Amino acid sequence: MIGLGYVGLPLAVALAEGGAPVIGFDVDAARVAALAAGRSGIEDIDDAQLVAAGGRFTADIRDAADCTAYVICVPTPLRDGLPDLSAVESASRAVATVLAPGDLVVLESTTYPGTTEEVVLPLLIAGSGLRSEEFLLAYSPERIDPGNPTWGITNTPKVVGGRDAASTKAAVTLYEQVTSTVVAVSGTREAEMAKLLENTFRHINIALVNEMAVFCRQLDIDLWEVIAAASTKPFGFMPFLPGPGVGGHCIPVDPSYLSWRVKKLGYSFRFVELAQEINARMPSYVVSRLADLLNEGPGLALSRTSVLCLGAAYKPDVSDCRESPAVDVMQRLALKGAAVSFHDPHVPSLVLEDGTALTSVELSDETLAAADAVVVLTPHAQIDWERVVGAARLVLDTRGTLPVGGAVHRL
Ligand SMILES: NC(=O)c1ccc[n+]([C@@H]2O[C@H](COP(=O)([O-])OP(=O)(O)OC[C@H]3O[C@@H](n4cnc5c(N)ncnc54)[C@H](O)[C@@H]3O)[C@@H](O)[C@H]2O)c1
Repeated sequence: MIGLGYVGLPLAVALAEGGAPVIGFDVDAARVAALAAGRSGIEDIDDAQLVAAGGRFTADIRDAADCTAYVICVPTPLRDGLPDLSAVESASRAVATVLAPGDLVVLESTTYPGTTEEVVLPLLIAGSGLRSEEFLLAYSPERIDPGNPTWGITNTPKVVGGRDAASTKAAVTLYEQVTSTVVAVSGTREAEMAKLLENTFRHINIALVNEMAVFCRQLDIDLWEVIAAASTKPFGFMPFLPGPGVGGHCIPVDPSYLSWRVKKLGYSFRFVELAQEINARMPSYVVSRLADLLNEGPGLALSRTSVLCLGAAYKPDVSDCRESPAVDVMQRLALKGAAVSFHDPHVPSLVLEDGTALTSVELSDETLAAADAVVVLTPHAQIDWERVVGAARLVLDTRGTLPVGGAVHRL
């Protein structure tokens, strides 16, 4: 397993639990040391499970020379808004140094269609000295949903597309060790595109309800009630919920990989651009909505208020703050002069862009009552919502978590 983060580690553990001898490789020596000491660092894998699975971890690719399958799960971020494949490239170069005839390489990192054959394949050939037909190569998108107790590696169907029939067959065999359903597609590009369709679909539909949330407020319509009503339609409708924006490693990032590739064809991917614009505007909408509520209610200016934010992670029940709209909201509140504090049972501390360090405060009646306003940003299951409703003076709930009425207002 090449890359031992949110994606690579759970897969390594699942394969090891299935009886495969697994070696985990990561360039981050501190991460390797933590894993070797039995510390997972990822919510979905507890330390005891990691130790019981019994994989080996290394920062030296030579330790993986005897492996017959290499699965690449390294980050694919954006740099200045453009795809940054440097980790995929360096991981491919590392695998090439130990690649032997007959070995299988699978790319799992989310990326634009064409990456496996246009970027990974030439690096594997150049670095290994092997001919293309001497090894097997496939793409399989990771669909892991961190923090999801229902759908995990074993019961979420896995899409696999190989460069040729033998590669697809080998990759299907690999994933059948851990997943009940493997879906083979005709090539690597179809598998790469399937992942981007899934995440672009989500991104666009979240933007749709976010835009509706803004005008439903003005029309005095409860959008959450509307969505619940529409959801009673047994076909042709799938509910998406509004919120403070989109975050994490995938939804805000992946569609940009696709729109970058589409731009090279000479078009712009207008759905994605519009969705990005709408979702990116949500944190500032949250701040302006709070400013209005403070103004209309207690008659306070945002610059003279204390605001307690509930949740910093980008989604419930995880600690991941990457691209988190909750952190964006905190930043904007601080810029407006509000005294910002936060509570997140999964995030002990965070640093805002201006360098302000914040530590998660205890969620007591006192901290709730002391804040002029409480903003619900990430509805973690662990948060005591009854306490929030009972003690807070003014609540802006951006997620539709709490019943409206009294001190509680929705987005
Ligand atoms: N996190 C998710 O929920 C999720 C879901 C589906 C797909 N993905 C995709 O999976 C890929 C990995 O995401 P992640 O969330 O696991 O990232 P992560 O940051 O949690 O982990 C990546 C790991 O790869 C290591 N790494 C970086 N460069 C390396 C290299 N050259 N060789 C070996 N290791 C290297 C890092 O040190 C890190 O430990 C991305 O493409 C992401 O878009 C993520």
